[in-house]
Amino acid sequence: MISVLVTGANGQLGKCLQDIVIQKHRDLEWVFKTSEELDITDQKCVLKLFDENEFDYLVNCAAYTAVDRAESEKEKAFLINAEAVKYLAETCKINDTKLVHISTDFVFDGTNDKAYTEEDTASPLNMYGASKLKGEQYIQGILEHFFIIRTSWVYSEYGHNFVKTMLRLGKERDQINVVNDQVGSPTYAKDLAAVIIEIVKSEYTEYGLYHYSNGGVISWFDFTKKIFEYSNIQTDVFPVSSADYITHAKRPKNSALDKAKISNQLKSTIPNWQESLKKCINSIINEKA
Ligand SMILES: NC(=O)c1ccc[n+]([C@@H]2O[C@H](COP(=O)([O-])OP(=O)(O)OC[C@H]3O[C@@H](n4cnc5c(N)ncnc54)[C@H](OP(=O)(O)O)[C@@H]3O)[C@@H](O)[C@H]2O)c1
Repeated sequence: MISVLVTGANGQLGKCLQDIVIQKHRDLEWVFKTSEELDITDQKCVLKLFDENEFDYLVNCAAYTAVDRAESEKEKAFLINAEAVKYLAETCKINDTKLVHISTDFVFDGTNDKAYTEEDTASPLNMYGASKLKGEQYIQGILEHFFIIRTSWVYSEYGHNFVKTMLRLGKERDQINVVNDQVGSPTYAKDLAAVIIEIVKSEYTEYGLYHYSNGGVISWFDFTKKIFEYSNIQTDVFPVSSADYITHAKRPKNSALDKAKISNQLKSTIPNWQESLKKCINSIINEKA
């Protein structure tokens, strides 16, 4: 039986993976570890777990994801997103474990006029992106049997994310300003979780770097309008430029990811962003009902 260790099990992606596994993938042996159960920066704990168990795959959902805070917590971001990832990769190498690691569209500076391919040069604008890129580089230098999946604009029923923030603000406010000069592709964490399960269950051997998000390219403004439309929220949405909405971390203007490479591998087609957004909003509304 294929055995899989999942770190960061309490995050959006970790929880979505658990949901899908519980529903339909009990034929694999899954070990889910939250940050309390396994701190990936604690080398002794990681070593002990690998000494006591054999894992065919490690799916690393653990990450430092506070993009703005990373500007003032550079060391913490690099410790979790780079140094701990280096140690995970070394541990995978020694134990013959394949690593599935998640990275980000924020490794790019956003100056491309089309969607970014895996061959495009990474040049992060912020500390979070730089720490994630360093993690990728460590993996690529240490392992042969790895999948790095760069994704973007992740949302789900869980944790903190743009969709849930907008649903809350939509109830509190009559109008809201949202940036319309940053474009990219949203990713429903359940769709990404399904892709990870497919990679593991099908034991894909085409290792390397991949881009994955839902289909379509939009701005945060477009995204917000659809969030409100699908949840029957009447709040007015006004477009603003990034220059009028200052954040600690700089963000790429274009972070659309070209998904041709991964779609050639996958059995299923990549859902478009509207279809997945509708599913997530329905699930959030039904949970509350
Ligand atoms: N969210 C996005 O928009 C986005 C966009 C592009 C890429 N990504 C990438 O996608 C992946 C999944 O993101 P997500 O949205 O699921 O993130 P998330 O919801 O923030 O979850 C990250 C998880 O990592 C855990 N964690 C943090 N430090 C840890 C440590 N030292 N040891 C073990 N676990 C630790 C957190 O624990 P606690 O529960 O204790 O906080 C949390 O459960 C990450 O690699 C992220 O960089 C995310």
